[in-house]
Amino acid sequence: MNAERPPVKITECAPAKVNLVLRVGGPRADGLHPLCSIFASVDLEDSVSVCEAEEDAVECGGVEGPNLAATAIDAFRAEVPSLPPLEVRIEKRIPVAAGLGGGSADAAAVLRAANQLSGARLPPGRLRALAARIGSDVPSQIEPRHSLVRGVGEELEPLSLPRMTLLLLPRDQGLSTPAVFGELDRLRDGLDPPAAWLDPEPLRRLATAGLHGLAAGIENDLARAALSLRPELAQSLERLLDAGALAAGVTGSGPTTFGVFEQVDDATSAARRIERSIVASPRAC
Ligand code: C5P
Repeated sequence: MNAERPPVKITECAPAKVNLVLRVGGPRADGLHPLCSIFASVDLEDSVSVCEAEEDAVECGGVEGPNLAATAIDAFRAEVPSLPPLEVRIEKRIPVAAGLGGGSADAAAVLRAANQLSGARLPPGRLRALAARIGSDVPSQIEPRHSLVRGVGEELEPLSLPRMTLLLLPRDQGLSTPAVFGELDRLRDGLDPPAAWLDPEPLRRLATAGLHGLAAGIENDLARAALSLRPELAQSLERLLDAGALAAGVTGSGPTTFGVFEQVDDATSAARRIERSIVASPRAC
């Protein structure tokens, strides 16, 4: 008999990710696009509280409609049928549909909490396999850290990143991830990059090239598509560079842009000049 009682309420941090580099291959037969990406895990976090309840419920201020947190409960229960009904409360700080992986981080946090509350103790590899069924950014958030991410998000390798501060510039209106991938396919018009484009080695080298080397290598294949759908993002990138960023880029499928700063003070003073920008640093992980 296990005398240890599972805890009744769990609160998990769900950190945002920023794609410092995102290379995208041509679509596979299932329509998904293989990737090779440097994910930075940053200290802009949602807070996800999960407890047992009479029935499943997800409360997520400011987010209407289906929520990946509910998908996560269903996915976990399909694996562990004894999971009790859960109530999830999400305190959102990460902008929504922003390319920052907030919904995926919340879903991963729910999987971690369900794992503890059910007493199932699935190992991280099993949780990652469940996560991959929910969305391509979810597996990397089971154990959030800086990572080289490949495949369609399921192949993960921890990375160390140089010290830096990021200034995030979200937009009011989010962008739909499928629409941005679709726009990339349209712009490429069948001229997809060769397989070598997804070689992980150059990205591993970039991560160890020091901040200036890394900043010089910031790129995102989806930026072109996001800018095609939302041309005003070009001004966001310019504003970040004008404010002193070493480099600026688009994270994920956008529309959030980010600038890279060496010193936190420089990022903070740039934040005073750029309305509604958010200072975020890569987490110590
Ligand atoms: O997995 P996620 O929820 O981020 O994906 C949403 C959609 O974005 C997918 O259904 C697909 O249309 C597109 N996508 C893709 N290739 C990926 C990730 C997402 O084509 N690697």
